[in-house]
Amino acid sequence: MLLRRSRVEPHFFRRHSQQEVRAWKKCGSTLLLLALLLPTSALALQVNSPDTRISVTIDTDDEGVPRYSVRYRGKVVIDNSRLGIRFAKHRGLESGLRIAKSERDRDDSVWRQPWGERRRVHDHYNELFILFSASSPERQVGVRVRVHDDGVGFRYEVPEQRYYRDVEIVDELTEFNVPQDAIAWWIPGPNWHRYESLYRKTPVDEVSSAHTPMTLLLRSGTHMSIHEAALVDYAAYTLERRRNGFQTRLTPRSDGIKVIVRVPFNTPWRTIQIAPDAKGLLNSDLILNLNEPNVLGDVAWVDPGKYVGIWWGMHLQDQTWGSGPAHGATTAEAKRYIDFAARHGFDGVLIEGWNIGWDGDWMANGAVFSFTEPYPDFDLQTVANYARARNVRLIGHHETSGHVTNYENQMTDAFDLYESLGVRQVKTGYVADSGELVRVDDGITRYEWHDGQFAVNHFIRVLEEAAKRKISINTHEPVKATGLRRTYPNWISREGARGQEYNAAWSLPNPPEHNVILPYTRLLGGPMDFTPGIFDLMHQGPESEFRVQSTLAHQLALYVVLYSPIQMAADLPKNYEQRLDAFQFIKDVPTDWEESVALAGEIGDYVVFARKERSGQDWFVGAITDEHARSVNVPLSFLSGDQRYVATIYRDGDEAHWDSNPYDYVIEQKVINNNDTLELRLAAGGGAAIRIQPTIQTE
Ligand code: NOJ
Ligand code: CA
Repeated sequence: MLLRRSRVEPHFFRRHSQQEVRAWKKCGSTLLLLALLLPTSALALQVNSPDTRISVTIDTDDEGVPRYSVRYRGKVVIDNSRLGIRFAKHRGLESGLRIAKSERDRDDSVWRQPWGERRRVHDHYNELFILFSASSPERQVGVRVRVHDDGVGFRYEVPEQRYYRDVEIVDELTEFNVPQDAIAWWIPGPNWHRYESLYRKTPVDEVSSAHTPMTLLLRSGTHMSIHEAALVDYAAYTLERRRNGFQTRLTPRSDGIKVIVRVPFNTPWRTIQIAPDAKGLLNSDLILNLNEPNVLGDVAWVDPGKYVGIWWGMHLQDQTWGSGPAHGATTAEAKRYIDFAARHGFDGVLIEGWNIGWDGDWMANGAVFSFTEPYPDFDLQTVANYARARNVRLIGHHETSGHVTNYENQMTDAFDLYESLGVRQVKTGYVADSGELVRVDDGITRYEWHDGQFAVNHFIRVLEEAAKRKISINTHEPVKATGLRRTYPNWISREGARGQEYNAAWSLPNPPEHNVILPYTRLLGGPMDFTPGIFDLMHQGPESEFRVQSTLAHQLALYVVLYSPIQMAADLPKNYEQRLDAFQFIKDVPTDWEESVALAGEIGDYVVFARKERSGQDWFVGAITDEHARSVNVPLSFLSGDQRYVATIYRDGDEAHWDSNPYDYVIEQKVINNNDTLELRLAAGGGAAIRIQPTIQTE
């Protein structure tokens, strides 16, 4: 279904002929006529969501400063907030502006994802484009607003200018004046460890500076999340505290300028997801809808799937990335993992620490990594052949330690090598403190941010180079996810938050609450390579603080709850071999979905998802809770009405508790239909994972 309509509205500020005025009056455009008679500063244009619950108003104040505000169900959720951009050398787009022109459009269409949480995505919005202009010096800026039922996106569109082409942006002036009595879930930004902080829950007026997505619960019960979509050739922003709310703070380049760009250009979309309840945020496709369609053409070669790998052993500090007696990536160890993967039906085997450069302090080794030369105890060709013969793919690994130039210098050779070995997926890594990505230009070393314009463009260069060889990329220490997987479907996953690795031997663990905040914050941006599935939850012994703060059933549920088209079974093979009954769920759960529905949840408390597999009729349900045990009723009305099903339920046992008894789980089966409601009893730090299969019809 495709429905488009475009309408150009008159220029309000110019003189209007009596004829024009008569014509508008005849069309019943009394509002427009009224607008004509008002002074420019009083003009306000409004655009509503298709269901009319969200309305956005745009106007200018007495100084000609453009502003917007947002209402949801009649209540203000963003009060008058400034719009604008400041330049280093030219008069900016900040004041003295008037509305010169406006256009309206709408869309009601469906597009398909090659892989994803759902195959079909509904894009339905009303659009308002406003051109602001000023004279002496003459300048113009457009603001395009799209209002969907699940939120608002707007971006600046800076057209050709009369007096200049190249601009240096020093500030974007976008404000989000949110209600000051809201509660916020947020991580501080900018921060030295990128996005890898524990989330804070505070009154919104205690947020000083935050990364996005930042998620809010308003006093009215409305849920809202501020983020951005389609971050391309621009800097990411953090939210910086202002008197009445927040202002976008663009991450600077190494020269201190925020963005260097040539007109005409569009900024990324500034987004506000809005929902009546927490689960409404999880069911929103706003971020994807605001991204451009796939530019890679046929992407049938992008493979979702599950993988194991030589990985957790290093995080447990039992093995090393570097050479020596504990080197993880040996030919023999790789073969062992490949055998395990083949035996249990995994698609891929990740091998980290295979290449020269890890010895000593690898985090400081960015300049010396080779991306083509294996360590002598790792026979890359033999391992690749061994994998191919067993129908398993090697997953490549490029850790850069943040030295982007060293990586870019070797990138084509590195991808050529992997292509020749049949590798279809590469995990990249940028372990360096924020603001410490190394870029060497003409012998001069400069330091860039992971979310500045340089890095934003670098990540896309990697995707393009990889796509030429049908390789997909899973970025660790990435820039935040802004839905670019729609445009570049080979951006298959990324990290960008505290993942499972923080539950290893080198960090105090994520508290149980962390996993029930992630879906409502980080995951709103897109898939995360969290690496679930740790079965040995007290790997340093029961006395150690270094452990996983969840039950085993919770680990299973994460495969459904934390969406990613690639999912790792992160633990060591020996730990799965000890609990093959629970491991069966990881073997069965798909990573590509026909449909996904968030059924229930509250931010930081619990979450329940149901997802239907793409290539079959099975449904999977995942439910997890924080440190509190709770009972959740799950109505099964999402199932087909003319069918009976068998549910295989992997749940916490009656005595389970993440701290004292994490291994207590029960696997049971029930016959169900869509009139039933399942009562799930989740232990403290617990969860439930369910596979629902149609029974063979007997009648
Ligand atoms: C950090 C990544 O998140 C982790 O998965 C990886 O093992 C290390 N870097 C080494 O590349
Ligand atoms: Ca909680």
